[in-house]
Amino acid sequence: MGQLSYNLDGKIFVVTGASRGIGFEIAEQLLQQNARVVICARKVEGLEAASARLTGGKNLLAVPTHIAHVEEVDRLFAETLNTFGGLDGLVNNVGMNLMTSVVDADPGVWSKIIDSNLTGTFLCARKAGQIMRDKKKGKIVSISSIAARRSAPAMGIYGVAKAGIEMLTKVLAQELAPFNIQVNAIAPCMVQTKFSEPFWSNKELHDQIVKTIPLGRLAKPIDIAHPTLFFCSEASDFITGQTLLVDGGASAV
Ligand SMILES: NC(=O)c1ccc[n+]([C@@H]2O[C@H](COP(=O)([O-])OP(=O)(O)OC[C@H]3O[C@@H](n4cnc5c(N)ncnc54)[C@H](OP(=O)(O)O)[C@@H]3O)[C@@H](O)[C@H]2O)c1
Repeated sequence: MGQLSYNLDGKIFVVTGASRGIGFEIAEQLLQQNARVVICARKVEGLEAASARLTGGKNLLAVPTHIAHVEEVDRLFAETLNTFGGLDGLVNNVGMNLMTSVVDADPGVWSKIIDSNLTGTFLCARKAGQIMRDKKKGKIVSISSIAARRSAPAMGIYGVAKAGIEMLTKVLAQELAPFNIQVNAIAPCMVQTKFSEPFWSNKELHDQIVKTIPLGRLAKPIDIAHPTLFFCSEASDFITGQTLLVDGGASAV
């Protein structure tokens, strides 16, 4: 595919969970549009390796952050403002799961999944909304999942958290519309990353899942990065409160 232009020259974005997978690809695509990008993840080694691979140079900043820890989130945005002097958008990409049924789940496991997926998204969106409403312009994009709409074994709590993200998207869209901040989400089907490797690395499971996708393959990180850039750009200025399914047509069947 040739290089698409989203007119993001010089814009400043925070991308959470960008040391690998979908977040890494979103950060790379933003950098290729000459945006300035702040990436975060919990592990310093992962961030260093990602920074070395990203084509960022002085347009890239990496800040180790656990997004469910309020003081670390505050520091992430403070360092963004100190380094780049502003904020134009946030991509809430962090997501994690611990395989368990809901009935047998330890309450501590419930909290971990809800904290990292939903509370962390709230903490980042809250901070970004507070910063961007002052200049009456901004974008917030969150990565949900088809698991928000369809229950799947061992992914129940994750699905509940992602459903929360979709509602949070609508609520924030309402609250931030007067400030010209658009808030949207993307719900992918299975994307080939480390997160979903236990599923797609098993050939039988892989083939079973692919059969449910009319376009006949799993998604790649770039399939999610492109619609994310659309939601980060002025091309989507009149769209807010929406979740776009990026599922190769699976939900159309
Ligand atoms: N892959 C799929 O099939 C699929 C399908 C639908 C939706 N999604 C969603 O897409 C998003 C990206 O998934 P992915 O497949 O790219 O995942 P991934 O490969 O596991 O990458 C997750 C990233 O998030 C970081 N991270 C995890 N927990 C964090 C926390 N509490 N605070 C800060 N950073 C954290 C990880 O780095 P550290 O470990 O160093 O923190 C890593 O950089 C997630 O929201 C996921 O739910 C994925």
